[in-house]
Amino acid sequence: MPLDLPQTFRHHVFCCAQQRPPGHPRGSCGAKNAHPLWQRLDQKVQAKGLLDVGMAMTGCLGFCSAGPLMVVYPEGIWYRPETPEDIDEIVEQHLINNEPVERLVMVLSR
Ligand code: FES
Repeated sequence: MPLDLPQTFRHHVFCCAQQRPPGHPRGSCGAKNAHPLWQRLDQKVQAKGLLDVGMAMTGCLGFCSAGPLMVVYPEGIWYRPETPEDIDEIVEQHLINNEPVERLVMVLSR
């Protein structure tokens, strides 16, 4: 039976919230100050009324040394923001105006 979903997201954002203990050899996005950044992202998305932007916290996305990491779909663009201003720029430029913030993109090599 097909599901009748009420909406689809224009952008769906996945944010790594993995927290490993201090000194863990892999480190973690949580240990690199990710949580305040994701809080800011959530607040900005709410404040801008972006009802067509979905946001989800995830476990490890697999590239811990590059964190904090977030991915924006459907484009599949990986970001590594470091400051609240980086988050603001991603919201304004990408989530609202659909233009990736090139300076914050993490390029995955093949
Ligand atoms: S802990 Fe965030 S990518 Fe691994």
